[in-house]
Amino acid sequence: MVHDTTVLLDERRVFEPSEEIKKRALIKNWDEEIEKGKDIEKYWSDNAEQFEWFQKWDKVLDDSNKPFYKWFVNGKINLAYNAVDRWIETEKRNQVAIIYINERGEEKKITFYELYIQVNKLANALINLGVKKGDTVSTYMPMCPELLIALLACTKIGAVHSVIYSGLSVGAFVDRINDAKVKVLFTADGTYRRGKVINLKSIADEAILQCPTVETIVVVNHTGTPIEISELSGREIFYDRLIEGEPAYCEPEPMDSEDPLFILYTSGSTGKPKGVLHTTGGYMVGTATTTRLIFDIHDDDLWWCTGDIGWITGHSYVLYGPLLLGTTTVVYEGAPDYPDPGVWWKIVEKYGVTKFYTAPTAIRHLMRFGTRYTNLYNLDSLRILGTVGEPMNPEAWMWYYKNVGKEKCPIMDTWWQTETGMHLISPIPISPLKPGSATRAFPGIEADVVDEEGNPVPEGKGGYLVIKKPWPAMFRNLYKDEERFLDVYWKTFPGCVYRAGDMVRKDEDGYFWIQGRSDDVLKIAGHRIGSAEVESAFVAHPAVVEAAVIGRSDPIKGEVIKAFVILKEGYELKTQLIEDLKKHVRHELGPVAVLGEIVQVDKLPKTRSGKIMRRILRAHEMGEDLGDTSTLEE
Ligand code: WT7
Repeated sequence: MVHDTTVLLDERRVFEPSEEIKKRALIKNWDEEIEKGKDIEKYWSDNAEQFEWFQKWDKVLDDSNKPFYKWFVNGKINLAYNAVDRWIETEKRNQVAIIYINERGEEKKITFYELYIQVNKLANALINLGVKKGDTVSTYMPMCPELLIALLACTKIGAVHSVIYSGLSVGAFVDRINDAKVKVLFTADGTYRRGKVINLKSIADEAILQCPTVETIVVVNHTGTPIEISELSGREIFYDRLIEGEPAYCEPEPMDSEDPLFILYTSGSTGKPKGVLHTTGGYMVGTATTTRLIFDIHDDDLWWCTGDIGWITGHSYVLYGPLLLGTTTVVYEGAPDYPDPGVWWKIVEKYGVTKFYTAPTAIRHLMRFGTRYTNLYNLDSLRILGTVGEPMNPEAWMWYYKNVGKEKCPIMDTWWQTETGMHLISPIPISPLKPGSATRAFPGIEADVVDEEGNPVPEGKGGYLVIKKPWPAMFRNLYKDEERFLDVYWKTFPGCVYRAGDMVRKDEDGYFWIQGRSDDVLKIAGHRIGSAEVESAFVAHPAVVEAAVIGRSDPIKGEVIKAFVILKEGYELKTQLIEDLKKHVRHELGPVAVLGEIVQVDKLPKTRSGKIMRRILRAHEMGEDLGDTSTLEE
């Protein structure tokens, strides 16, 4: 979706940081820091020094085989050790690491020491299950402490984690598990959602029948839904039973900087979701540095990122980023508006959250309730706000700034992706802000706007977003699909620059204005979903011959799905079939695939080689010129 970022607010105001913000800021001069970042090797190695390396790197960056960059070459490190073990030797030992809160108002606080013990026990249990360095372990779990513990336990022993978002359903689940040849799966009896318990286990049960590589399924009894031991199949075991009697110490596996850390599946413009592969050393340095400098993390901060661990935001900024800094991280299970739309602000007040990071779609949703709920609670503890996932429209920005931040909290509009692992374009607290702009590239990052041929475009003109230099938390490959890795990201433009897949323009101050995806990837409530995946879900229904889907703009979700379907003889798109199709797509993909509209058509615009031209459908939808139709068959 292309957002009209040219219509700006009243007086195109620039928002300057307060004296208070400037006083605390870790970076006092933005230009100087960007200047420092120009020597990328020095910049990132300086930021890598704060960690405990079992063995220091010999070389910061190896770019001898582009785009297969290597960072912190021959460094040996363990991320769980740096995120947890390291703190128990300090005064943070008994400080709270995780505050888990759910929509029922229940909470659990876990100190660094407790987390350390829990991670060790589970890590030992995994070893006993036969999990070895390099094996893949998946989770299909709610946002609950055991999820974080499971991921850290994997990291501790060098197993590669592959998280499946709990809002995805059977079809999406099976693809991900089988592609990654998962050995152990963690799931839970259920998750709380708007007063109900969603039975995750039954979805997992159905899916797992098609997943032959899974040897063990660990079940967390999270909601207390009674499951009889006898109901567990031979390969299932309860989490509590699994860790019972396990030793409280586990030696951290010394990982090479370039050893795989995790795979996370994300949607591309074609085919099935791709497994984005991240490695250890660079990811650690990139996520911790951006958390620290963009959100200005001090020892007295209380961090809350509302993202789900099922997506990259949760990996980098709920789990690793904050814990690597020894910062308390809030883990919230539930919706932003249940039991009422004040639930988030109530949590901010109760715990004194200082840094709050969420998605534009949530802000647009909460904005509908005016100031009633934001005024009901004391939000004075907040210092810095953030957004991620899609373009922030200026109206929502202003609402957030005024009513949540009370005009004293700068908003960090952070642009990044599953592939980038860390923020790449973002302000820092002292930056002058323009609502709707992610401002400039982070120090050490070189971003630009280019045309089809890869030539830089003049200021103010739209083009493709590219990243011209490697960065430490960059993905290293697509799991088992190197060809696609090279084709999709590195071959479009000359000179091995990274193609992000977004359209963008740069203004007179060098500020970036992200305008939306340039490919067939949809952004529904900030969640990424490929048109092709939705289309295959449609054609798997017996009534559908062919389908094409595009994004239709939506005031709250940003985009929802508009589907064009060709039906089999004898079928008509009546209420019953529409309901059926909706149910079917939901069953295949999960609630993330929000259907806005289904229309029946006789034909779809195609190229002579038979490829659906979604561009034509989009242009038609927006009442735009159809552009170059010379390759159109009919
Ligand atoms: C796509 C990546 C990165 C964590 C969550 C999304 C869009 C992301 C912004 C922003 C405008 C944004 C882009 C990008 N996006 N942040 N601040 N302003 N658009 O990760 O699911 O991999 O999606 O999200 O279109 O390509 P993701």
